Amino acid sequence: MSSNRLEEVRRRHARAEEGGGEERRARQHKEGKLSARERIELLLDEGTFEELDKLVRHRSHNFGMQNSIIDGDGFITGHGLIHGRQVFLFAQDFTVFGGSLSEANAQKIVKVMDLALKTGAPIIGLNDSGGARIQEGVVSLAGYADIFLRNTLASGVIPQISAIMGPCAGGAVYSPALTDFVFMVDHTSHMFVTGPDVIKTVTHEDVTKEDLGGAVTHNSVSGVAQFLSAGDEDCLRRIRELMTFLPQNNLDGVPRVSTKDPDNRADLELDTLIPEESNRPYDIKDVIGRIVDDRYFFEVAESFARNIVVGFARLGGETVGVVANQPAYLAGCLDINSSTKGARFVRFCDAFQIPILTFEDVPGFLPGTAQEFGGIIRHGAKLLYAYAEATVPKITVITRKAYGGAYCVMGSKHLRTDINFAYPTAEIAVMGPEGAVNILYRRELMHAKDPEESRRARIDEYRNRFANPFVAAERGYIDDVIEPHETRPRVIRALRMLANKTDTMPRKKHGNIPL
Ligand code: HXC
Repeated sequence: MSSNRLEEVRRRHARAEEGGGEERRARQHKEGKLSARERIELLLDEGTFEELDKLVRHRSHNFGMQNSIIDGDGFITGHGLIHGRQVFLFAQDFTVFGGSLSEANAQKIVKVMDLALKTGAPIIGLNDSGGARIQEGVVSLAGYADIFLRNTLASGVIPQISAIMGPCAGGAVYSPALTDFVFMVDHTSHMFVTGPDVIKTVTHEDVTKEDLGGAVTHNSVSGVAQFLSAGDEDCLRRIRELMTFLPQNNLDGVPRVSTKDPDNRADLELDTLIPEESNRPYDIKDVIGRIVDDRYFFEVAESFARNIVVGFARLGGETVGVVANQPAYLAGCLDINSSTKGARFVRFCDAFQIPILTFEDVPGFLPGTAQEFGGIIRHGAKLLYAYAEATVPKITVITRKAYGGAYCVMGSKHLRTDINFAYPTAEIAVMGPEGAVNILYRRELMHAKDPEESRRARIDEYRNRFANPFVAAERGYIDDVIEPHETRPRVIRALRMLANKTDTMPRKKHGNIPL
């Protein structure tokens, strides 16, 4: 081989690795951001990165672009391993034309997405970009649309993860939005369709970049992102952690992680954790922690709609998706945000063969005009739909309240849930005793000698008759009333029993979930 050719290969590889140069890299570091290559190193197992298309160049001749050519064109794409398992990735290098998307580097992304889909491996995007490359016009927009198409085709087939590690604006936000999980880095990442300047012109609102589209906003207000990280390193570490729970694709089955936590471990403190008074709050995460392997619960969307808790855990070494009402926040009521958060998580689990374990303690849907005008009917229907269509193993534990429509929604037997347990503290009824007595006995109480005493007597009567798990258990809607300390062994046995479960849907192109 001629030494000239070897020389050229080395030079072009080095040029690609150089990116936008020392000065721009220093600026990136000064802003608290790692470079695209540093990020890849932290994301993957050491020494496993295989880069593709390092020599791809843009083809633009507009605005003097023919004089600014950098091998790789600022996007780094390829594959590697996370905890020994195959993943594909792309990372936008902000030092090269602001990480902007060109025809050429869009094709690089499309190539790794196609490979990920064909080989059944997750795809991870590290986003840090000024959006469509302005010099390329519609060709760049076409590149985005090519990516959106692949995001959609891959949805439910391979896990798709987005990390926002810098700007992400305009239509560019829609690729992350189509993926399963969005990570954001506090203070250095921003997502918005239109930025503060456009908003000021159109609506005269004054808003900072941070308030409009920062990591806190999207994790706690909009629900666009599910993970908030303190910095790049934390973000990449948590992506690696998330991957330990996920299957490679929709046919692969969940990964097994061995545990020393015995299957039959009984936690006696569970027996006193749920307060007897039905209005006293408790933290459902304490309950979850005492049941799952090694008390290890990986929460998703922790800061959004905190009245529902969702996340991954393991039982007997295998991943389960946990969905739980949170009595410590809004009394665990279901509202618009918690319904959509729960529905999306249930659908992710169902798509990827992850069993769903539900803990139910819900007084009902949140009343009020804000909820009704906001469409709680159609949003609540999403959660109902998601549970009903899910064919994965489903287990529900009613810890306390299961009232009204919320009883039906939260993985009731009637929505094809396989095993339904209730604690002795469970109250399963059309509504809570106070509300029911006010409706049923309004007239009687109006004319009672001592209305307060009569009311209390009626409430006791109602509670004894309905607000318990036995009426439902006598009908078989509950498979068993269990003591809380038995939950872990009983759920693990149920999961093992359901390991080969199959269930079907009627033939259809796709359903029409109320969006
Ligand atoms: C080409 C771009 C670019 C872009 C930034 N650069 N954005 N080059 N196309 N879209 C270049 C800059 O010219 C500069 O080059 C370098 O990247 C760094 O940019 P700065 O502005 O110096 O950085 P900073 O001050 O940190 O600001 C970052 C920024 C800003 C907020 C992202 O650059 C910006 O507002 N860019 C435009 C964002 C935008 O409106 N994009 C289009 C969105 S619409 P030098 O050579 O000086 O280093 C869209 C449509 C997608 O994307 C549609 C999909 C359907």
